[in-house]
Amino acid sequence: MKRLIPVKTVLLAVAAAAIVLWFGPTPGRALNNGLALTPPMGWNSWNKFGCKIGETIVEQIAEAMVASGMRDAGYQYVVIDDCWQVDRDAQGNIIPDAKAFPHGIQAVADYVHSKGLKFGIYSDGGAKTCQGRPGSWGYEFQDARQYAAWGVDYLKYDWCNSGKQNSEAAYSRMRDALAACGRPIVFSICEWGSTKPWTWAPAIGNLWRTTGDISDIWQSKDKRQDLGVVDILDLQVGLESAAGPGHWNDPDMLEVGNGGMTTAEYEAHFSLWCLLAAPLMAGNDLRSMTPDIARILTNTEVLLVDQDGLGRQGRKVRDDGDLEVWAKEMADGSRAVILLNRSAAEAKITASWTDIGYPAGLPAKVRDLWKHKDMGIFKTTYAAAVPAHGVAMIRVTP
Ligand code: GLA
Repeated sequence: MKRLIPVKTVLLAVAAAAIVLWFGPTPGRALNNGLALTPPMGWNSWNKFGCKIGETIVEQIAEAMVASGMRDAGYQYVVIDDCWQVDRDAQGNIIPDAKAFPHGIQAVADYVHSKGLKFGIYSDGGAKTCQGRPGSWGYEFQDARQYAAWGVDYLKYDWCNSGKQNSEAAYSRMRDALAACGRPIVFSICEWGSTKPWTWAPAIGNLWRTTGDISDIWQSKDKRQDLGVVDILDLQVGLESAAGPGHWNDPDMLEVGNGGMTTAEYEAHFSLWCLLAAPLMAGNDLRSMTPDIARILTNTEVLLVDQDGLGRQGRKVRDDGDLEVWAKEMADGSRAVILLNRSAAEAKITASWTDIGYPAGLPAKVRDLWKHKDMGIFKTTYAAAVPAHGVAMIRVTP
């Protein structure tokens, strides 16, 4: 008797073929330090505290990361940004600010480690950092050895005052210094996208900034002055194939909870960064965040999209002016999908299966990742009312 192949099997096979055509291959040559196989998650001092940083704040932030449930949700690195360093001694050793860090950097690293977290620090490939502190130019190997001795697990490496250096060569030097320092250290490249790092950085760093600094705003009035969430989002289009396990595009740190945006905007910012497989460095004061902000930062259903093992960066699949659809292929063959409303009024947005890489007619389960609710089985499209400057985020599983 002739056996018929079930319709669902055929549709799934078509879907699998569509994945390859739709998302394309990942690049072959990449840094292989075994770190950041999913986008790194943590906290960084810059967005909230700038130069007003010291050991008390950093240690209290580590405590808050545990107490708020963020550590359990996957946040790991506590990173001190610019302004911890003041000078070099006669041997060229970097000297921390003794007022801000009276017990030295190693004591802070030890404290962070004692909370089951990892510790990160900041330097710059130029003569001085962006805030005029000593940079690492000419001291790369000495500084890397010092970081390893202190117990550093993550280095953010900026690009101010870098003179006429070639960025790829300068960042390669620090990559080699870290590789030789005897401790695994995640390497975060921060040259603001100025020399197209997505074309060279996958072989050098675990993540690289793709744009100038983020501001705590939805959209900029003048992109030469500052960049908001959707401005940065637009600049990620076309960079997708550079991302993958161990090497990520970095659309800059989170502003969630810093006070400049609405809850809907912060949910959108967080959702979009997760769909982009972006590094997730919280940038707010974890010691005093509201339950609403903690709820956003610890939404594990959304975090799973960011941390998916396949490591694909999501991309824009439909653009109807202010209404957009973004989709990310997940390791289990499902899709994470964002319906993004950039307009100032609520709007209905529709995702169609053919836009997200499935054939029309494929029955799929839809789960709303903010409502934490199964919405039913859909076959061709899914539509939702989306608030102004907001998102609906769903997972579509055939
Ligand atoms: C640059 C970086 C920021 C921050 C500051 C610190 O602007 O892009 O993320 O590190 O320097 O000075």
